[in-house]
Amino acid sequence: VSHLSDVRPKVVICRHLGPAMPLLLDRKDIDIVLWPEDRGCERAWLLENIKGAAGVLVLLPERVNEELLDAAGPSLRVVSTMSVGYEHIDLPLMAKRKIRVGYTPDVLTEAVADITLMLALMAGRNDGVAYSLVKNGGWAKPNFGWSPFTFCGPQLSTTASSPARTVGFLGFGRIAQATLARLVPFGITHCIYTSSPTSRPDVARDAALQTKYNLKVLERVDADRLARESDVLFVLTPGGKETYHIVDATFLRKMKPMSVLVNTSRGSVVDSDALATALREKWIWGAGLDVVEGEPAITTDHPLVKEPQCVMVPHIGSATFQTRLDMATRAIDNLIGGLFGGEMPAEL
Ligand code: DGY
Repeated sequence: VSHLSDVRPKVVICRHLGPAMPLLLDRKDIDIVLWPEDRGCERAWLLENIKGAAGVLVLLPERVNEELLDAAGPSLRVVSTMSVGYEHIDLPLMAKRKIRVGYTPDVLTEAVADITLMLALMAGRNDGVAYSLVKNGGWAKPNFGWSPFTFCGPQLSTTASSPARTVGFLGFGRIAQATLARLVPFGITHCIYTSSPTSRPDVARDAALQTKYNLKVLERVDADRLARESDVLFVLTPGGKETYHIVDATFLRKMKPMSVLVNTSRGSVVDSDALATALREKWIWGAGLDVVEGEPAITTDHPLVKEPQCVMVPHIGSATFQTRLDMATRAIDNLIGGLFGGEMPAEL
């Protein structure tokens, strides 16, 4: 046993992974160090425990930077994040130090697309105000019985009197396309999107999507047109320096007064103060947010929390039992693959 433990690589797991845990615990060929509490892993604990580790499984809050790699030392060969996003990982540094990085794309696409649609509906249909009213007993008060135009908002689906609604995607990757698929049964036939300026137009993909969904319009546009023409605008681009505050006051000023903005990608893409102003001054109708700049430190005095037309949930886009189990499994498979020099199902 002592001989075995000498050669077993040490792996640090930053959070208990619930029902996926046996995939790690049943292995005899690794030495597991698990953060013992049911809350975010403390930095000091991680820096201490990562010494001499060959692999680490992290979540979004863990900054994987020079400090962490130096604490680990030269033994570290794989970092596996249980997330599709990787802005918490210094990728150039990983490449420089030849450390493999795994992430969890694909498995969360459908869950995030579901919540993206949910937020579009909630924000458009005044769910924040309406739900609070019910919770606070307001429904029973005389002013709030059914009345012709109280609580009205813009409709997501098309109608005979409003047949052309344009959906816009800031970023048109897997989750955006899965969201579009959900919008087609709502009668949506006009879709515009922006992509990273460095990416080439994908004419064949767009032609295929246009045919598949019977779209009248599927067009890659610039940010100016995206802002001006979208009735519902979905922010679905990765975070990071390139996309920081793309949705700022200038962008929001161009949007339609009845439009809805939904962000289910990264908080850093949207300037929160500008969005709060846009809602307060009615440049746009509403916002649905799963992610907010500066999260999780979002308190009740946050300008967006105070906006009645802003619906917010605390970064739960991928939070279904099925998806989280799939993400944890993939993160473990990536970790094990990288640890033993094998294939990682999703490597960056
Ligand atoms: C991710 O995986 O990056 C998501 O933000 C989690 O929901």
